[in-house]
Formats: sequence, structure tokens, C-alpha cells
Amino acid sequence: MLTVDSLRVTYGGAVEAVRGVSMEVPDRSVVAVLGSNGAGKSTLLRTISGTLRLHRGRVDAGTVRFEDTDLTRRDAGQIVRRGVVQVPEGRRIFGRLTVEENLRAGGMGNRDRAAKAKAVARVHDLFPVLRERAGQRAGLLSGGEQQMLAIGRALMASPRLLLLDEPSLGLAPRVIGQIGEVIAEINRQGTAVLLVEQNATMALGVADRAYVLDVGRVSLSGDARELAATDEVQRLYLGHTGDAPVRREDTAPRRTLSRWTA
Ligand SMILES: Nc1ncnc2c1ncn2[C@@H]1O[C@H](COP(=O)(O)OP(=O)(O)OP(=O)(O)O)[C@@H](O)[C@H]1O
Ligand SMILES: [Mg+2]
Repeated sequence: MLTVDSLRVTYGGAVEAVRGVSMEVPDRSVVAVLGSNGAGKSTLLRTISGTLRLHRGRVDAGTVRFEDTDLTRRDAGQIVRRGVVQVPEGRRIFGRLTVEENLRAGGMGNRDRAAKAKAVARVHDLFPVLRERAGQRAGLLSGGEQQMLAIGRALMASPRLLLLDEPSLGLAPRVIGQIGEVIAEINRQGTAVLLVEQNATMALGVADRAYVLDVGRVSLSGDARELAATDEVQRLYLGHTGDAPVRREDTAPRRTLSRWTA
């Protein structure tokens, strides 16, 4: 569905943030990108969503293809219309607007009224709290609710591929578990997801495949369950020393976790 090939991205002509990354998101899959601070995760998502320019970044080489369309260097609006929608790092909701107005803003490019009504219904089903708080100022929501609103706003554009940049950031473990479950449900409804995370437990719990970025390069990739079992991922991202038994995180979706804790 999405193919990134030999991508190189720099900021201000100097900082090389992505140094030859190739990756793929198969149809209807959840793909996780793990990596520590500064690894290039957000840069990769910004490149795919066409928002790189807002950050003074530039694609130096490589391509981003979505199905049969070359998206490299296209503008963000065109990319959204193709069905690729990003939830940026730090949520970026409109705090002074109401919850409902935030959702409406996400559906602005969508002229089809029936599709819009369907999208609102989907968002309200996934996040009943957004229906209950429809008239409330978004800035008054809790961190977890704001993340749900950010995801809901992106769903208003009826994406076929949803790009999530660290949705777990700053949230309590219980809320992170809920976000993981929601991602799995969005995917079951037919939307592919590219999930950037530092929280490997949550990400590998919902993802089919995963890539590990290290200073702008892919250092590991493969089946999410297999990656979760590797010493490197255990040590670097799951906080285990190697011989300690894997702890079951009861906050993360059980469906997949149970398979790699055995
Ligand atoms: N707007 C920018 N201008 C200049 N350099 C930038 C800019 N944004 C990111 N960088 C640099 O590019 C590299 C990759 O940053 P990026 O934000 O993509 O990493 P990340 O993996 O998302 O990190 P984090 O987990 O902290 O969000 C870093 O060295 C960072 O300092
Ligand atoms: Mg980032």
C-alpha cells in the first residue's frame, strides 16, 4: 500500500535526519516504527504526509509511493485527499475550539455529506467521550481524551492509511492500553496504520510488522512478535535485561500480547 524507498531527508541543508530508509506498509496492516529520541521517526511521518516543508525539511533522495501514486514532495492537502492522514506529534488539537468544532475541522476537506456523517458516527462509536463532551472546549479534556480527539479528527478525513506519531506520549499506562485497543479496532474496520512509538510494548502489541530506526537508518525489521522476542528490542525498548521473564502488561491489548509472552 505504502512504499518508502531509499529515503534521505535533511533539515536546513545540514542535519541529515533520515539516511536511506526503505520500508513498506502492506494493505490493511499495522506497522510500527520504533526508535529513541532523534532517530528520525517524526521526520519519516512528516515526509509521508507532506508536512516536511513546514519544518524546513527537504527530501534529498528516494521516493514515497502510495498505491500507484508517487507522493514524494506533494503538498499535504493532496496527500490527505489520497487517503493518507497524519496525527502529529503532540496532538495539536485546537484547545479553544469545542470538541465538535475540532472534529468538524478534520472533516473540512471532505465534501461528501454522507461520508462525513458516517465518519462522525464512527468517531463517536470509537470514543463515546467525544460525543458526551461535544460542546466542551477541547483544551479542558484530559491528555488521553485529547489524544483520542486528535485521532478522531484525523478519522474525519476518512483515511485509508492513518499515520500516528507517538500517541502514547505523556499518558498513563492504563490510557496507553486504551489507545492500543483503539488502534487495533480502527485497523479491524479496514484502515491501515503506521504507528510511530517509543512505547514498544504497546506498539508491538498491536503491530503486524515493525521497524527499528537508529539515527536515521533501519537497524532491525520484521514480524512484530519476532522482533519483540529479540535481545536487542528486549534490552533497548522493553526494559528487560535478557534473562528476566517477560512481564505481562495487562494494560496492553491481550489479543496479541499473550502470543509473545509465553
Ligand atoms: N525542524 C527541524 N529542524 C532541524 N532539525 C530537526 C528538525 N526536526 C528534527 N530535526 C532533527 O532531525 C533528527 C530526527 O528528528 P525527529 O524529530 O525525526 O526524531 P524522532 O525519532 O521523531 O524523535 P522523538 O522521539 O524525540 O520525537 C534529530 O537530530 C532532530 O534534532
Ligand atoms: Mg518525534
